[in-house]
Amino acid sequence: MPRPLTVLILAAGLGTRMKSRQAKVLHRAGGRPLIDHVVATALELTTPGRIFVVVGHQAEEVQAAVRHHGIGFIHQHEQKGTGHAVMIGRDALADLPGHLMILYGDCPLLRAATLRHLIEALGESDAGVLLSAHMDDPTGYGRVIRDARGAVEAVIEQKAGTPEQLAIREANMGIYCYRNDLFWRYVDEIQPNNPAREYYLTDMVAILRQAGHSVGAFTIPDPREALGINTRLELAEVDALFRDRKRRDLMLAGVTIENPSTVTIDSGIAIGIDTIVEPFARILGRTTIGENCRIGAGAIIQDSHLADGVEIDPYTLIAESTLASGAHAGPFARLRPGAIVEESAHIGNFVELKKTRLGARSKANHLAYLGDSQIGPGVNIGAGTITCNYDGSAKHPTTIGEGAFVGSNSTLVAPLEIGPNSYIAAGSTITDPVPADALALGRSRQVNKNDWARKRRALRKNRAV
Ligand code: UD1
Ligand code: MG
Repeated sequence: MPRPLTVLILAAGLGTRMKSRQAKVLHRAGGRPLIDHVVATALELTTPGRIFVVVGHQAEEVQAAVRHHGIGFIHQHEQKGTGHAVMIGRDALADLPGHLMILYGDCPLLRAATLRHLIEALGESDAGVLLSAHMDDPTGYGRVIRDARGAVEAVIEQKAGTPEQLAIREANMGIYCYRNDLFWRYVDEIQPNNPAREYYLTDMVAILRQAGHSVGAFTIPDPREALGINTRLELAEVDALFRDRKRRDLMLAGVTIENPSTVTIDSGIAIGIDTIVEPFARILGRTTIGENCRIGAGAIIQDSHLADGVEIDPYTLIAESTLASGAHAGPFARLRPGAIVEESAHIGNFVELKKTRLGARSKANHLAYLGDSQIGPGVNIGAGTITCNYDGSAKHPTTIGEGAFVGSNSTLVAPLEIGPNSYIAAGSTITDPVPADALALGRSRQVNKNDWARKRRALRKNRAV
C-alpha cells in the first residue's frame, strides 16, 4: 500500500524578474497558467483534499485560477523564504499521515511519473528525498553537498557557497518528498541566519542529518523537466517545451502534424487518429477534435468541438462553436461563439456565423453574415445574404425552415420567419414572414429604357463638335 500523500505547492512569491504586474504563476505556458499545470500534476498523485497551495502575492487571483480543482489554500502574508512558506502550513498539515511533497508553482513541466519515482526513491529508513539534476551550468541553484560515502549532507545556496561548493554540478531542484511526521518534528530548527534573513527550506537537509536521519537524492534523467521560470525568456523556453511535448504525444497517438514546429496546440486538447493538422494552425483552450479531420493552414480553433471527418480550410477562425461530422468550414470563415454546424453542412469563404445553428447538409458558401439564426436542414444560403439581427438596441432572431432557398444578396430583417421549402428571390429585402412553399420577392421591378445608351453616345458626339 502506498502511503497517503499530501502535496504543498509554493506560489506566494512575486516573481520580480518577470517584470510584470501579474503574479508569476499566473503567466501562461502551453496555454494554461503555470500554477494550473502544477495542480494538475499533483491531482495525478493525490486527492484534491490533500493538495494545498501557499498563496501570498495576488492571492485572490491565484486562488481564482485553480479553485475549481477543489484544493486548499494557505496564506503567507509576508514572503520570508521557502522554509517560512512551508512552516505556516503547520495547522493544516502537521497531523496528516504519510508523506509530504513540496512543489513550486513556477516549475510546471514536471511529470507525475517523475514525481512517483521521487516517492519510490524515499527509502524506509530515509526522512526525505530531494530532486537533483546534473547541470552544465548550475549557477543560481542550491548545490547538493555529499559526504565521502556519497550520502547527501546538505544543500548550500548560491549566495552562501564556497568556490569549491559552487564548482559542484549537482543542483537542488527545490522539489522534495519528506516523511510528514519527521518533517514537522524538526522544521522549527530552520532559522533565518543568512545574509538574506530568509528561512531556507534547504536547511532541512542538514537539520535532519544532524538529528541522525538521512535525506536521499533522486537525480532527474532530463533536467529540462525541472526548469523553473524566473524570466520571460524562461517562460518562452518552457512554453516551447510544452508545445513540443504536446505535438509529440499527439503524433505518437496517430495525428499527422505537418511542419510541427509551426503548430500550436494547448496542453489539454484531444485529437482523434488520422486527423491532419497543417502548418501554422493554432488549436487552443478546451477544444476537442475527432478522427479523420483536416485542420487547414493558419486556422485558429478555440474552445470548440469538432466531430469526426470535419474539414477546416485555411485561415478559418472558430471560437466556442460545434461542428458535427462531415461539416466543412473555410477558407477564411469565421465561427463566433454559439455557432453550431450540423452534419455535412458547409460554410464557405468570408462567411460569419454567430449564435447560429446551420442544419444538416445546409450551405452558406460565400460572403454571408448569419447571426442569432436557426436554419433548418437542406437550406441554401446565397452569396451575400445578411441577417439584420440588430436594430441599434436589441438583437432579434431569424428562423429559416428546412429546404428553403435564399437567393444571393438577400437582406433578412429580423425578427423573421422563413417557412420550409420557400424561395427568396435574389436581391430581396425581406421584412415580413414568408409562408412555407412561397416565393418572396422584396425588390423593385426592373425597368429597361430601350435605346438609352445609343442616344447618349450620339448626344456626347454632337457636343464635342
Ligand atoms: C530555491 C532553493 C534552491 C533551488 C531552487 C530551485 C531555497 C532556499 N532555495 O531557490 O536551492 O536550487 O529553488 O529552483 O529554497 N516562495 C514562497 N514564499 C516565500 C518564498 C518563495 O511561496 O516566502 C515560492 C516562490 O513563489 C517560488 C518558490 O517558492 O515558487 C521558490 O522560491 P524562489 O525564491 O524562487 O527560490 P530560489 O531562490 O529559486
Ligand atoms: Mg526560483
